[in-house]
Amino acid sequence: MQFDAIVSILENVPHMPPERGKLIYEFVRARQPKRILELGFAHGTSTCYMAAALEENGGGRITTIDSRVAKQRVPDIHSLLDKSGLASFVETVYAERSYTWELLKLLEDATKEGKTEPLFDFVFIDGGHTWDSDGFSFLLADRLLKPGGWVLFDDVIWTPSVCAGEPWVDAMPAEERDVAHVEKIFNLLVVPHPDYDSFEFDGTWAWARKKPDAAVASGDRSDIVSAIYSRTNAARRSFLIRRYVKRLLKIGG
Ligand SMILES: C[S@@+](CC[C@H](N)C(=O)[O-])C[C@H]1O[C@@H](n2cnc3c(N)ncnc32)[C@H](O)[C@@H]1O
Repeated sequence: MQFDAIVSILENVPHMPPERGKLIYEFVRARQPKRILELGFAHGTSTCYMAAALEENGGGRITTIDSRVAKQRVPDIHSLLDKSGLASFVETVYAERSYTWELLKLLEDATKEGKTEPLFDFVFIDGGHTWDSDGFSFLLADRLLKPGGWVLFDDVIWTPSVCAGEPWVDAMPAEERDVAHVEKIFNLLVVPHPDYDSFEFDGTWAWARKKPDAAVASGDRSDIVSAIYSRTNAARRSFLIRRYVKRLLKIGG
């Protein structure tokens, strides 16, 4: 779908304004990612811009994750995808608590015999914007990002104090409220990461590329995996036996 067509559907929907929509649309057109991971879709505006570009590319798929409260958004992502006819490019995942847990599932599916096969060519992180959730999300997403793939962070200089009055912000220590968490993530986790290069920051968004020669293969770890598996099983069995004996002694005494 051409940019003018998708922008006419999305221009008044938060949270991605058309000028940013154009940037992400053009990025997807230029880099031709086949598989995209998005963390935080809200109404699905950014998702639709990317899906429109994938259609124009001739194919691709977005896995996008938000918490289940996103179902209550008006408009919701499904109505926007239906209106734009782009639903077939998107898999929507509703996390019960956090996308970090959904990333565990993706990582588990992608890991066989101790080796993770990366899935994605592009990861867009635009969710909680906090050190805990998005710092950890970057480390998880890195395991799922193919060499040569890109990661993009939104709201780099946003600080939680912008939302003062919200209970989760007021519960934070002051030193965490006034800090741009995504900037810390980018400067401390992404830039020093030996597998990343091509850093860009435009005042709102920060990009980095995973080097095309970044190591993926961790070799055959099947012997380590089966040793850990049999030890954890043995530990679990002995824990259950001890608990059972304790209960019996309690009943007896
Ligand atoms: C800024 S909005 C996303 C905007 C969207 N990317 C766009 O540009 O149209 C952030 C979203 O992240 C979601 N979110 C924040 N933390 C999350 C978490 N830990 N797990 C799942 N979703 C989360 C929120 O529910 C919210 O809908």
